[in-house]
Amino acid sequence: MPEAHIIGLGHYVPENIVTNDDLSELMDTSDQWIVDRTGIKERRFAALNQGPSDLAIPAVELAIDNAKINKEDIDFIIFATSTPDHYVPGSSCILQDKMNLNGIGALDIRVQCSGFVYGLSIAEQYIKSGQFNNILVIGAEVQSTAMDLTDRGRDTAVIFADGAGAAIISSQKLGGQILSTHLYSEGKYAKELWVESPSSSSRPTIDLAKINEGRHFLQMNGKEVFKHAVKRFPEVIIEGLEHNELSIADLDILIPHQANLRISKFIQKKLNLLDNQIFSNIHKYGNTTAASIPIAFSEALIQGKIYPGNIVALASFGSGFTWGSCIIKWVK
Ligand code: UT7
Repeated sequence: MPEAHIIGLGHYVPENIVTNDDLSELMDTSDQWIVDRTGIKERRFAALNQGPSDLAIPAVELAIDNAKINKEDIDFIIFATSTPDHYVPGSSCILQDKMNLNGIGALDIRVQCSGFVYGLSIAEQYIKSGQFNNILVIGAEVQSTAMDLTDRGRDTAVIFADGAGAAIISSQKLGGQILSTHLYSEGKYAKELWVESPSSSSRPTIDLAKINEGRHFLQMNGKEVFKHAVKRFPEVIIEGLEHNELSIADLDILIPHQANLRISKFIQKKLNLLDNQIFSNIHKYGNTTAASIPIAFSEALIQGKIYPGNIVALASFGSGFTWGSCIIKWVK
């Protein structure tokens, strides 16, 4: 059976740096509060009229370069985003045309913070079945346009941000071999972290009253998210390792979804990991939802933190609730 390998990664963040002090000018918050509660010091916001497909392009180009393939070698596109360029068609199609990749299948997945792990899992199955040889998996978000940048939205506006990451999953036995993926969701918590409007279950899908009430902005029950995240992350990481007859002692580096530094610290303590065994870049980029894992993974590689023979774990938790893990063995 073919093996599924991650043979190239790339990331891109928009140029516009928004500091905590910048947000303090828009809403009643402070650098101290944001750093203490989230670990975030600054984040990036996309420029006017930049969608997730635009942020994805440089990330994809880098992933293709690093994979040492031609873009014509790509057989299929999977685009994970919770903030698509448009409702119809998906960002995978929008990106496909912008990058002249027409004529192959393109799939959008809406699994929020777990989007990249779910995307890897889908790609893994197609590669292992022999149907495709090279699959492009993207996580990209423009959340700055979907957040309430006033006092009313301060609990989410200081956390979420924009960015893109991409990976090439291949049957070539290079890079990181995907050993297994483990996916979960619990839709009964859908409303704990959601965007209510526009909604196709209401007529009209959105109206002025809903806009005035801010129901088109991201809403989060932070305490509930926190409570579930600190349980599900360790659980799904251990499950992934044990599935491969590995333990925490075998784990070289954990690259968690960059939800919140306090959540990462909790996981680190629970799993007894050293500082160099858990990657963090949330201080620079905030929480970029589906983009956070591929951005972090790409940066970890650039910073020389992953060596041949290493066991790498990716893990996510977010809106849905959805969560998952991916266990990788770095071969070259
Ligand atoms: O991908 C998944 C992403 N989501 C997460 O990771 C979120 C997980 N949750 C959390 O990290 C935390 O719940 C938050 C950081 C969101 C909030 O921290 P908290 O300790 O749960 O704060 P809280 O919601 O209980 O609010 C404490 C206080 C409140 O004021 P009062 O009622 O005590 O007077 C809030 O109004 O902090 C206030 N507050 C703020 N103050 C300054 C809420 N947001 C802000 C803000 N700046 N941005």
